[in-house]
Amino acid sequence: MCGITGIVSLDLDNIGDLLVTCGRKLTYRGYDSVGVAAVQNNVVDLRKDVGTIEEVNKRLGLSSMRGDRGIIQLRWATYGAPTRTNAQPHFGCQEVFYGAHNGNIHNYYEYKQELIETGHIVRSENDGELCVHAVDKYYEQTGDMFEAVRLSTRDLKGAFAFAVGRADAQEIYAVKMGSSLVAGVDKNITIVSSDLPSILPVTRNVIYLRDGEMLRLTPHDVKVFRIEDGKELDRPVELSNIDINAAEKGGFPHFMLKEINEQPKVAQDLLGILDGGNIEKWAGLIEEASRVYLVACGSSYNAGMVGTYYFNRLAGLPILPAIGGQFIPMYGATLDDDSLCILVSQSGETKDILNVLNLVRENNLGKTLGVVNVIGSTLMFNADSYIPMGCGYEVSVPATKTYFSQTIIFAYLSAMLGKRNGTLDESEANRFLNLLRNDLPRLTRETIDHTGILAKMLAKTLMDANDLYCLGYGLTDGVAREGALKIKEICYNHCEGMYSSEFKHGPLSIVTNDYPVIFVTTTEDSWMVINHINEVSCRGGRTIIVGEQEEKLEPYVKKEIDYLTVPKTDVLLNPLLDVIPLQLLSYYLSVDLGINPDQPRNLSKTLTVD
Ligand code: M6R
Repeated sequence: MCGITGIVSLDLDNIGDLLVTCGRKLTYRGYDSVGVAAVQNNVVDLRKDVGTIEEVNKRLGLSSMRGDRGIIQLRWATYGAPTRTNAQPHFGCQEVFYGAHNGNIHNYYEYKQELIETGHIVRSENDGELCVHAVDKYYEQTGDMFEAVRLSTRDLKGAFAFAVGRADAQEIYAVKMGSSLVAGVDKNITIVSSDLPSILPVTRNVIYLRDGEMLRLTPHDVKVFRIEDGKELDRPVELSNIDINAAEKGGFPHFMLKEINEQPKVAQDLLGILDGGNIEKWAGLIEEASRVYLVACGSSYNAGMVGTYYFNRLAGLPILPAIGGQFIPMYGATLDDDSLCILVSQSGETKDILNVLNLVRENNLGKTLGVVNVIGSTLMFNADSYIPMGCGYEVSVPATKTYFSQTIIFAYLSAMLGKRNGTLDESEANRFLNLLRNDLPRLTRETIDHTGILAKMLAKTLMDANDLYCLGYGLTDGVAREGALKIKEICYNHCEGMYSSEFKHGPLSIVTNDYPVIFVTTTEDSWMVINHINEVSCRGGRTIIVGEQEEKLEPYVKKEIDYLTVPKTDVLLNPLLDVIPLQLLSYYLSVDLGINPDQPRNLSKTLTVD
């Protein structure tokens, strides 16, 4: 949620252009409003408004703003409606201090009141403004910008990061207190940002930061300090080899379609990463634990559901899936020093997940194993070990290739564990692992090509379906939930994902003539799923099937497009492939409905708030 970028240069005079270029790479973090503070000759030009970066740039000419330093902010609204006044950056009491934040200030109401009572002019209802006032307040007391920034963090409660500058100083300070922040340094220019892609237009020399750290950027260098005592820290400058084009659409109309099409390569690359990875360590953590929880949110949780079935089926292991935000109230008290939390998060910054990570770390409640895509994220740095998803940047808000990667990781890990503990005999485990290595990338490509055409036609017939269900059984339970989440998220239709045998326990009453219900199945479970299909079709419902072509299922679809068939293969690959037609269906439906699937309303890619 929200993205900030600050740049300090020696002699640029068109900082607006560079801030907009870098800011575009953060579009996925927020598109409720955008603002730029650009500083030239010690005067701050602040322009901001409601809308996407392209809309606001066109309206206010952000790219043409002059100056050698400044801050851009893209907002995903939490505190305060998406209005011009609530847009960031903000000024302090006068037009001297300027700054913007990402995250949430939990003591917003009390602290705002306190500031107002001590004479501060707080203009907005946005918590980011309080960060600037806090610095303003301590500058008044100390006359020292470094100390003012450092002390400001004592007043602000929550998880956040902010960047702040003074009109008359050629420097910007930034603070990392629970939200992501990376810095970059090159000749005569430095940059700080919520995420790496927005640094890359300026430099590949990157500095990763930890929570509780602050930095000072000048045109010549970035210095990192510990907030607690102000001690300067030695942080290495690392060369990033991330593909800068990863944040381009590469000829596809949307990032989502590009990322769906990257899945064959993700499968191929990931298997290489896993084979060369630290399986001893990862498997050891699971084997040594007395209890294993798998904690995740949204698509990552759905992938975890698929994982749970694989762990049970291939390794005979009971792994308890839990939704990130629910974990502490539901299972927190059951953690002990033998337990393991597998924390699954694409961004590695999801607050609901970091809350669990922090609980475990601060109270020595066992170990954590991260499954994470973003290199340099908080989860990656702080988990006891982590498995990289190896997807490269996923820009589109709906998760596709990262969900896919997570399910492959769980399938791989389950087979490895099953081989080690004897649940699978060696030849059976190796056969499955070789299928993943040798067949999955090709089958993924075939599935995209074949079901893409059908999904596109099917989408046209579902444009008026404001309400539908997507049901799975056994290994496809998580797949159906993921399909439903995709449709909800980018088509704004109500689509509920649930277990197919559970449908008759209430929801079945919704079925009338032509009411659409999607069934996701494997060849192993179709004999059972037919019962659930019958319960819908005999009441006039429209049954749409995702799975392998099976003669016994054919009578249940009225048209060819209602049967999204994946290639014939081993049943254990079905759950991996079945999600693809659902991703494509949601994509085409979203586009047909005139929605931009990359930026669904009200959402943000990285949710660093509670
Ligand atoms: O970065 P994370 O994997 O922790 O994100 C979790 C969810 O916010 C995320 O999967 C969300 O549900 C997706 N936008 C769904 O497509």
